[in-house]
Amino acid sequence: MAQVQTNGHPRRGYSGSQILLHWLIAALVLFQLIFGESMGEAMEEAAEGKLVSAAEQFMAEAHYWVGIAILALVALRVLLMARRGAPAPLGHGWSVIAARIVHGIFYLLLVAVPATGLLAIYVSEDFGEIHEIGKPLFIAFIVIHALGALAHHFLFRDNTLKRMLVPGA
Ligand code: HEM
Ligand code: HEM
Repeated sequence: MAQVQTNGHPRRGYSGSQILLHWLIAALVLFQLIFGESMGEAMEEAAEGKLVSAAEQFMAEAHYWVGIAILALVALRVLLMARRGAPAPLGHGWSVIAARIVHGIFYLLLVAVPATGLLAIYVSEDFGEIHEIGKPLFIAFIVIHALGALAHHFLFRDNTLKRMLVPGA
């Protein structure tokens, strides 16, 4: 069973707030990936002087604020991890290295994608092109990550998926 040593106190698994943040951020990222194109379309229509429909305007506002919420929730998640720690990935050798790499890439994307979105609005539209590369990258790593979680559950039969569902497991 994974144990985390923080301030001298051994802790197991993830806390309820770490689990809540994981699934909340995952749901918000999926929302951004599914509905992100409205933002691009609204920006394009506005730049061409066309009228942006109320529905599109709403979806563009939603993209903006959901993106900012993701950034704030990720900051909270990193703070919690710094205070409480996080359990080491279960398994051996390459699978632990692969999990650490994928988790690291997620943290990088979770900061870089909203940051380039903000830069696209406030600094230069050129950042929009970098921002859009986030879409295929996120999709690829979500597929790898979810398949990894399912493999841990059904093939390796360890606690990996359970501990992202049950606090302290
Ligand atoms: C994790 C957070 C985010 C994700 C996953 C995300 C994802 C996306 C996606 C999938 C698109 C459409 C790409 C396409 O049409 O191929 C998009 C476009 C866009 N997003 Fe985000 N976004 C996020 C956060 C933000 C934030 C915080 C802002 C700004 C405050 C933002 C501003 C934009 C802009 C301006 C576009 C249009 C870019 C263009 O057409 O050049 N995004 N985003
Ligand atoms: C946008 C979607 C997702 C993102 C950004 C994401 C991100 C992350 C990150 C960064 C971690 C590392 C936790 C930490 O130490 O802080 C993690 C752990 C985990 N995620 Fe996700 N995740 C997503 C979707 C999913 C999905 C769909 C599943 C299940 C099918 C899943 C299952 C897990 C599990 C089981 C762990 C725990 C791994 C361990 O304890 O070693 N995640 N996720």
